[in-house]
Amino acid sequence: MSTAAIQLRTAIPGPRSRALARALRASESRNVTFVSPHTPIFWERAFGSAVVDVDGNQFIDLTAAFGVAAVGHAHPRVVEAITRQAAQLPHGMGDVYPTAVKVALMERLIQLTGLGKVVLCGGGSEAVEVALKTALLATRKPRVLAFEGAYHGLTLGALRVAGIAKFRAPFAALVEEPLLLPFDCDTTEVERALAHDSTIGAVIVEPLQGRGGERVPHPDFLRGLRAVTRRHGVLLICDEIYTGFGRTGALFASLESGAEPDLLCVGKALAGGFPIAACVGSNAVMEAWPLSTGEALHTSTYLGNPMACAAALATLEVVASEDLPARARALGDVIAARLEPLRGLTHVRDVRGRGAMWGVEVDAPARAVAATEEALRRGVIVLPSGARGEVVSITPPLIIDRADLDAALTVLCDVLRGHAA
Ligand SMILES: Cc1ncc(COP(=O)(O)O)c(C=O)c1O
Repeated sequence: MSTAAIQLRTAIPGPRSRALARALRASESRNVTFVSPHTPIFWERAFGSAVVDVDGNQFIDLTAAFGVAAVGHAHPRVVEAITRQAAQLPHGMGDVYPTAVKVALMERLIQLTGLGKVVLCGGGSEAVEVALKTALLATRKPRVLAFEGAYHGLTLGALRVAGIAKFRAPFAALVEEPLLLPFDCDTTEVERALAHDSTIGAVIVEPLQGRGGERVPHPDFLRGLRAVTRRHGVLLICDEIYTGFGRTGALFASLESGAEPDLLCVGKALAGGFPIAACVGSNAVMEAWPLSTGEALHTSTYLGNPMACAAALATLEVVASEDLPARARALGDVIAARLEPLRGLTHVRDVRGRGAMWGVEVDAPARAVAATEEALRRGVIVLPSGARGEVVSITPPLIIDRADLDAALTVLCDVLRGHAA
């Protein structure tokens, strides 16, 4: 299968990728990049939904690189904004001598979310940490209820609400046991937990679980959570780091479902590839932070980095001008129709998703891994997800064109059916 976008010049991984993998093994901590005879390929450049590796092979990216490249890789308006800002002021002093571009981004985030105050962060896990810190300051209650399968990042604070045990287990001595309920449980269970434990100050939830395997809750779940948390004076933290900025067909899945959170975490797609995230909160909750008298209680060297802020503003313009939530809905219709026949396969347990966030759950993690490797060999990049890695996840750039999407899904469906190339 070869389209204009898929151009394979070598066996995958090619000779340069294999040589780099050997060099990587010698330099990187052994737990970070997974190296096998089948993976990785080393990316050299990317544009739109295409990725080119160091051997000159061109792939279609159905991951948006962990959901980040919603506007596509190297969107010209984002590249231009970063380049302009890099020449003018690449780095400032975020919480001491800030920049106008930082203010503009925070104003934009407030406008988009309808919330009141922002803390800019370097990545998603930090945004979750800020939400957890804010919740403690605002409620004085230390416990946070989370859900099985939840992924909120891997820093120590974020591990306190990890719903995938393997990430927390080796560090259990440093991180207390999280309080978890099944994702998509009846919200009366949440109500029972809140009524039973008065030390719970917040509930944290992903509107759709991403890393947990593209799990979609029942339509009333978020609204129900909002209602029970309000009744018990408990804060609702929505982690939209994966789902935010259009991925599910709405700008924010939580707001669309009528569950306005007290704290909203965003990241990934926010800046089209530049590392930045944010925790946005209601005025009432964010008032819990004391006024700075010169020493911020939460900040970091790169807070509000000007290049990241400029990239984010440009990205948000693209999200609006190209109506990417609507694009995600249209992609969702195509993806749903193409994946539907897979339900009939005995090794396919489920096909689910919303907008441009889909998962095909298979009977064993090894099958999902084999499928991602075979798809890569045929020029399509997908990732496994799910608590055990039993799901093949499909989260393309929202700007992917129909021909590329069709070509990539044809490859992926063939692979999942076990058809030879
Ligand atoms: C829902 C969610 N929250 C938090 C994170 C952590 O973000 P980061 O990897 O930028 O720290 C992720 C990353 O995949 C995520 O999907």
